[in-house]
Amino acid sequence: MRIEILTTFPEIIESVAGQSILGKARRRGVIEVAAVNLRDYAEDKHRSTDDEPYGGGPGMVMKCEPVFRAVEALASRSGPGKPRVILMTPQGRKLDQNLAKELSAESHLIIICGRYEGVDERIREHLVTDEISIGDYVLAGGELPALVLLETVARLVPGVLGDESSPETESFSSGLLEYAQYTRPANFRGYKVPEVLLSGDHARIEKWRRANALERTLTRRPDLLEKALLTDEDRAIIAGLRSKQSQ
Ligand code: ADE
Repeated sequence: MRIEILTTFPEIIESVAGQSILGKARRRGVIEVAAVNLRDYAEDKHRSTDDEPYGGGPGMVMKCEPVFRAVEALASRSGPGKPRVILMTPQGRKLDQNLAKELSAESHLIIICGRYEGVDERIREHLVTDEISIGDYVLAGGELPALVLLETVARLVPGVLGDESSPETESFSSGLLEYAQYTRPANFRGYKVPEVLLSGDHARIEKWRRANALERTLTRRPDLLEKALLTDEDRAIIAGLRSKQSQ
């Protein structure tokens, strides 16, 4: 998978995308990530990427020319399929694990980081295929949101995580929050690991984990239970927890 991030601050992208899981996956050639400097595609001698809004008002607006030129240049190297062209904006579809999964199956993503007060509407109308928000709050620019999207998507690409990690068991992938985890020591300052996890009885451990995931989801994110895939046993556990809660 190739992911290109269009920005006037390529150093912000590189400072994160060169480290940890993303950095390792890039060095191993599992994913290709490039921070592309929008100024390299500006047409004037000042290499400007923004201008004043028509009609007046505060702030600057991201110009069409550099963004169109950059996306067209990057897309022409895309091979037969068309890339998804994503604009990071608080007005977009809210990012969640399902959207990340969908994007992780693509072969080429181009992510545009909005900066300034906004972007020329013609970029939205004639260039962008997806507008994505990372939540209902406003950041100064699209670089941090682009990095959030990058990491969320890239770790779902096969081969990016080590063999031992599995995105299948973690929070949201099953529709539930993940169960509580413990590691050695079994007794830390008198805080004990639940006995069942030390028992070696895998059936009991699985049961405990499922019940723990259901309880966490019920107390922290009850909204998720409406869409989660639940067995009759799960429903019985939830009913029991609910009646305990109401006592
Ligand atoms: N740019 C500024 N705020 C943002 C947000 N919440 N999501 C995506 N892009 C943004």
